[in-house]
Amino acid sequence: GTPASKSDRMVTLAIDGREVTVPEGTSIMRAAREAGIEVPKLCANDMVKAFGSCRLCLVEIDGRAGTPASCTTPVAEGLKVFTTTERVNAIRRGIMELYMSDHPADCPACAEGDCEMARMAEKVGLTEIRYGRDGENHVVPRIHGDVNPHFREPDLSNPYFAYDPAKCIVCSLCVRACAEVQGTFALTVEGRGFESRIAASMNTPFFDSECVSCGACVQACPTGALREKSVIEKGMPEWSAVTTCAYCGVGCSFKAE
Ligand code: FES
Repeated sequence: GTPASKSDRMVTLAIDGREVTVPEGTSIMRAAREAGIEVPKLCANDMVKAFGSCRLCLVEIDGRAGTPASCTTPVAEGLKVFTTTERVNAIRRGIMELYMSDHPADCPACAEGDCEMARMAEKVGLTEIRYGRDGENHVVPRIHGDVNPHFREPDLSNPYFAYDPAKCIVCSLCVRACAEVQGTFALTVEGRGFESRIAASMNTPFFDSECVSCGACVQACPTGALREKSVIEKGMPEWSAVTTCAYCGVGCSFKAE
């Protein structure tokens, strides 16, 4: 969802015909969840301010034009919101198709069920990818020639996790988690379009940057681009636990093999 609103004033609206009352300032996405409706999303979570970058959470609102993002649109009294109209369903499938067309077909995170993007592709009913992928090295033909190889090189420098730009959709959840959850500001987005990737402290390897290895970025990543090395090497654990101490609010996780 999105972070909770602290307002004392309450607002009532209808989402897919279900009436829900939430604090003023709550996002439509969060209100939908209160009503038991999961709006597809990739770039929002409860910990960081909504950013509206993935465009998967679009909805229709009675009397309003367009298809606003439910994560960045606040509730209002009497709104009638629809989360699964034909129009938004078609837009979501189109968006997911574009994301998946530039995602490795043999991604282990997808295969192991550790990829929110694969789950969302299924949820929006994506069954076919018509663009891009050559099936071998997954390089999409470029209008302006091949991508600079630097932008596709994985960063394996951190002892605990790896970053693979080939799987990254640059939703910037990791950048925001680093800043808003951990307060470290170690990450940024470098480059544009296909040549964009997450970079640590002015483009140094993660290990040499200001990154404190807290893992907030890994927890936030919806695509398997940032993944724990233990999971990459040994596969998904059967169970895991998260503990939170006074040092930081991230929550350290340990996983059984
Ligand atoms: Fe709303 Fe990504 S979740 S735009």
